[in-house]
Parts: sequence; C-alpha cells; structure tokens
Amino acid sequence: MSQDDKKTAAARAALAYVEDGMRLGIGTGSTAEAFVRLLAEKVGDGINVTGVPTSERTARLCVELGVPLATLDEMPRLDLTVDGADEIDPQLNLTKGGGGALLREKIVAHASEMLVIIADDSKLVPALGAFPLPIEVNPFGLEATRQSIVDAYTELGQSGEVRLRVRDGQPFETDGGHLILDASFGHISDPKALSDALHAIPGVVEHGMFIGMATLAVVAGSDGVRTLEA
Ligand code: A5P
Repeated sequence: MSQDDKKTAAARAALAYVEDGMRLGIGTGSTAEAFVRLLAEKVGDGINVTGVPTSERTARLCVELGVPLATLDEMPRLDLTVDGADEIDPQLNLTKGGGGALLREKIVAHASEMLVIIADDSKLVPALGAFPLPIEVNPFGLEATRQSIVDAYTELGQSGEVRLRVRDGQPFETDGGHLILDASFGHISDPKALSDALHAIPGVVEHGMFIGMATLAVVAGSDGVRTLEA
C-alpha cells in the first residue's frame, strides 16, 4: 500500500465520525485534503455539514469541491475537527505545522469538541522531536525571538538549531502574515515544559506541539486502519 493509499484509508475511516448537521473543522495538508475529497462526495450525496477551514489552501479546495464553509466567527463552536499531523506520540501529543498552518489549526482544534487526527503509520513516533518543531513568530524582532528560542531549549538541556523557513527563496509567510522558525533539537523529553517556555517568549505567536488536544488518531498501515485513543 502506498503512502497516499494509507492517507486516503485513514481519511475514509474518519468519515465515520461525521454526522449530519455537524459543524466541522477542516485541517490542512495532504492527508486532510484526502479527507476533503471524500467529504465532498458525502456532501454530494446529501449530508448537511458546514466546515471551518484551517488555511486558505483548504478553503480553496473546499470551495472548488462544493463543501459549504463558514468562518470561525460565524460558527465559534465546532463538533469535530479532522486534521493531519507530522508526528503522533503514544499519548497522542502531536507535532503539526509542516504545512505552515499550525496557528489556525490550533485555534480551530481548540474550538472543537473532538479532534480526530488522520495519518499514515510513518507519523507514529515514540517521542516528539525528530521532526523539526514549527514555531510561528511575529516578523518584528525575528533574530531576538530566534535567540530566545535557542535559550529556551538550552535551559531545558537541549542543543540544536533554529532555522527560518524559506520557500522559493523568500521567507515563508503564514496565512496570518507571520513567519515560521523550524527548531531542530531532537527528542523533546518534556513537551509541556518546552511549550511553557516557548509561550513565555513575546515574539512567539504559537508553536506546533498539540499537547493533550487529540481525542483520537486514525492511523493507516499496510495491515489496515487502527484507532488510537489518548
Ligand atoms: C499543516 O500545517 C500541518 O499541520 C499538517 O497537518 C501536517 O503537516 C500533516 O501534513 P500531511 O498530511 O501532508 O503529512
């Protein structure tokens, strides 16, 4: 089974959680896009749902495929969000933001009663941190913020590097007009302590660790789809 097939299998299994009348958060990334395509088929079959997209990219795909949308201001409480992840640890803590949508993803997930993560089994890890942690930052004082992030890791006994995300030779800009710093420091031994330290830095808008937010993860491997609970 290819990785794309696994993503589609996980997305298809997550459709079981979607009920008529639901207010849905709709994630970002290739796995979430597989979910949007399957959801659009259900909409075509007559299910009545309204989605809040977590990125402009997801919004465009939903519009193209006819998935009804609302803003989070119009619909501030959601029943279910379905989204992908870059890493999933055994407690269902996540790394997200590989696609740069982590801030809107976290705001939407926080507004949702349930967060269902869909992924292929390559995303399962014993501990977060092999994937560089995306940190969304305000462009003002970028270097000061970068150094403060390095200091925060150092105080937690970790060494590594923080790199500005670049796309097509330019700093990558998020939907919110911020920048992304990718922090490579290896395994994160205490996600909560790191989260608190990063949140204490004024230039940090949000980081890509989703701690204790996922309700369950639907993970596809060659031997089928498994549902993992937090
Ligand atoms: C987007 O910012 C991310 O959080 C994605 O959810 C994550 O990168 C997973 O993407 P894929 O489904 O493309 O692997």
